[in-house]
Amino acid sequence: MTMSDELVLNVKELYLNFYTYEGVVKALDGVNMFLRRGDTMGVVGETGCGKSVTAKSILRLVEAPGKIESGEILLYDKDKETDEIHEIDIAKLRPEEMLEIRGNKISIVFQDPATYPNPVFRVGDQIAEVIELHQDLSLDVLNMKIAKLELMLSENLASENRAEIEEKINYYRQQLDDPPTPDKKSKREAAKLKAIEMLKMVRMPAPEQVVNQYPHELSGGMRQRALIAGSLACNPSILICDEATTALDVTVQAQVLMLLNQLKKEIGSSIIVITHDMGVVAETCNWVNVMYAGTTVESCATLELFEKPIHPYTAGLLTAVPKLHEDRERLPQIRGTVPNLITPPSGCRFHPRCDYATKICEEKKPLLEEQKPGHWVACHNPLDN
Ligand SMILES: Nc1ncnc2c1ncn2[C@@H]1O[C@H](COP(=O)(O)OP(=O)(O)OP(=O)(O)O)[C@@H](O)[C@H]1O
Ligand SMILES: [Mg+2]
Repeated sequence: MTMSDELVLNVKELYLNFYTYEGVVKALDGVNMFLRRGDTMGVVGETGCGKSVTAKSILRLVEAPGKIESGEILLYDKDKETDEIHEIDIAKLRPEEMLEIRGNKISIVFQDPATYPNPVFRVGDQIAEVIELHQDLSLDVLNMKIAKLELMLSENLASENRAEIEEKINYYRQQLDDPPTPDKKSKREAAKLKAIEMLKMVRMPAPEQVVNQYPHELSGGMRQRALIAGSLACNPSILICDEATTALDVTVQAQVLMLLNQLKKEIGSSIIVITHDMGVVAETCNWVNVMYAGTTVESCATLELFEKPIHPYTAGLLTAVPKLHEDRERLPQIRGTVPNLITPPSGCRFHPRCDYATKICEEKKPLLEEQKPGHWVACHNPLDN
């Protein structure tokens, strides 16, 4: 595998249910999505198709009555010291293990700046808090690593590479001794300086003032920049931007996403953009994952999707996409309605709305397959174009 197609995340056949009084909501029904290092991937689909639930699963933020039934959420975590890549299955982590990942390796921005960031705290304090939290956590992690290695030594399990292990322990100890703030400023002050630095990075006007302001004193676009500054503070390898249904102006949103694309190299992050808006995808994403009723139906490069969609659902979505910079509407209407996920259609969940459906579509759920190189589709009757 070359550097350019190195994976950072691979969600495989993810199934998730909500156990409600009305019945079992089969919300995720085999979600598949992979994200490569440096990609900006759009996740699109009608309301209720599972975009946010997928994002929350990746961060293990889905709460009861929601439950992951099966599947894998593989994070390929690169060790900052050794460049070694470790595979971690997020679906199987214990809650306390998630603390090291959430906000640190994977960060999420809910794009509803009206209710978030927290209105009663100053912008700078909110960013500083994230930074401090992970500073403390990383000290805990260092201590944990040292303890593990010492145990290995004491149990004599590693007679051959003793020297190597001792060297590692010394290295970690040194990091523990290194004061996080060499200039003896208080931790909070140092975190605040870092907050200003982050605000500068997201091109916030007057960052030294903004850091002391409250969210309501900022415009929608500035609030969003502040949120992103906070979510990037720990250099996450994955940033997820989840557009709320009541998102702000698409133009502002697109501007912020373009900024993220510019910053991507600096930060070393890959980005997942959740949106209803195909125009936003066209402008900011190099890869797209189309979801329908809890499944991935199509996944390929953005240009390819716009030129040659293969899944009838995607084709339907694209027929009414307005030109860029025109007044955009939300996703166009496709005949029929979004299915009830307590009693979803059999076979392919899209079949009742599909003009190309045949008998097999009612009977058998199509698997996501690579129909053409680099183009994955889950459909029994793919469009050929
Ligand atoms: N706490 C919950 N209890 C029961 N069902 C839920 C819960 N949260 C989400 N769902 C259901 O899971 C499905 C997926 O919801 P999700 O929020 O992921 O949709 P979405 O694609 O993000 O939609 P939107 O574009 O409107 O944000 C929906 O059918 C929703 O009703
Ligand atoms: Mg959502």
